[in-house]
Amino acid sequence: MLRFGSLELKSNLFLSPLAGYTNLPFRLTLREVGGLDLATTDLVNARSLIERNPKALKLIETCPADRPLAVQLFGSVPEEMRDAAVMLQEMGISSVDINMGCPVKKVCRVGGGSAMMTELGRTAALVKGMVDAVRIPVTAKMRLGWDDDNLTAPDLARALVDVGVAAIFVHGRTREQGFSGRVNLQGIRRVVEAAGTVPVIGNGDVTSPEAAAMMFRETGCAGVSIGRGAFYNPWIFQHSRHFLETGTLLPESSFEERVRVMCRHLDLMVEVFGEVHGCRMFRKVAPWYSKRFGPVSEFNRRVVQLVSRAEFDGILHSYVEWRLQFLDANGQLKPQYRPSSLVSSFMQEPSSTTRESIPVPKGPVEVW
Ligand SMILES: Cc1cc2nc3c(=O)[nH]c(=O)nc-3n(C[C@H](O)[C@H](O)[C@H](O)COP(=O)(O)O)c2cc1C
Repeated sequence: MLRFGSLELKSNLFLSPLAGYTNLPFRLTLREVGGLDLATTDLVNARSLIERNPKALKLIETCPADRPLAVQLFGSVPEEMRDAAVMLQEMGISSVDINMGCPVKKVCRVGGGSAMMTELGRTAALVKGMVDAVRIPVTAKMRLGWDDDNLTAPDLARALVDVGVAAIFVHGRTREQGFSGRVNLQGIRRVVEAAGTVPVIGNGDVTSPEAAAMMFRETGCAGVSIGRGAFYNPWIFQHSRHFLETGTLLPESSFEERVRVMCRHLDLMVEVFGEVHGCRMFRKVAPWYSKRFGPVSEFNRRVVQLVSRAEFDGILHSYVEWRLQFLDANGQLKPQYRPSSLVSSFMQEPSSTTRESIPVPKGPVEVW
């Protein structure tokens, strides 16, 4: 049984915060598919939250089916971070996570995000203020350090453990690295060793059950957090749980099941954001589902201009008809049209020519 302080968790697999994506509809979709327990929101500015800015409140929108939920805060003013944590506790949020990995200039300039990895004393004092003010767990999410010459994560982990942090999430890359290269499993192991009995959750490039198992094995981490792999395959939590428990792989989800879950996701988007905004937001979500559909140009061309729920049904209907030409007599994609499976970069030999890195969604957060 994994615990973050007083919070008992039913799964050691976690959803990583993905600004712009880890909203209520996505979390509910993943929870319905299964295998996930603690999920998190996108990062939220602590000051905006205490000022009850409507955009910040929308980012933490939740419902009883969306439990347990962590809210990720960013900020560098100790009083604001403390007050935001208290506010979240009063709202019934299960856990507060602190962003210490964001490389975006706007966040780092004011001492938040990955700048927190460079000032251990100041950061530890800020975290202590939060831990002392709330009963719910306070966790931290960091990268390995600012750059290869400053791999401060183990030192930061020790400092945070001393002030009572309940768990540490670590993405095995430096800020300077962005998303390039491979995730450094030995770097994560060093954070695990530094944190002692406090759980460390390994993160980075987990896109398959085997990669999740490897993250556990190579780093000794207590849990694994999955970001982009969850867009690409919402079944990853359920399939990884099964693999970790039984050593066997569940079959890949069928086209029909992928379509069912995609439609459910859209319905939730419309419910939470309204039809116009929900459909507009879904333009960047649908292509993630369709990566596993086989030939897809016809679908993607139309879905990126989606304006209404009814239009989506029309797009889907004509796509299903169009896709028939690529199927064999059993209704399966002919071998030459099957999508290649995405293999985590750290599962591949450096010399491998088949290496495929995980796509990073386009946008201002490209360098997370
Ligand atoms: C589009 C996008 C948005 C992200 N937003 C956040 C964020 O709000 N807070 C955060 O701590 N990390 C954020 N990250 C980093 C992820 O949580 C995660 O650490 C990183 O993607 C590596 O994990 P993965 O390989 O499983 O995706 C973001 C990453 C991406 C690609």
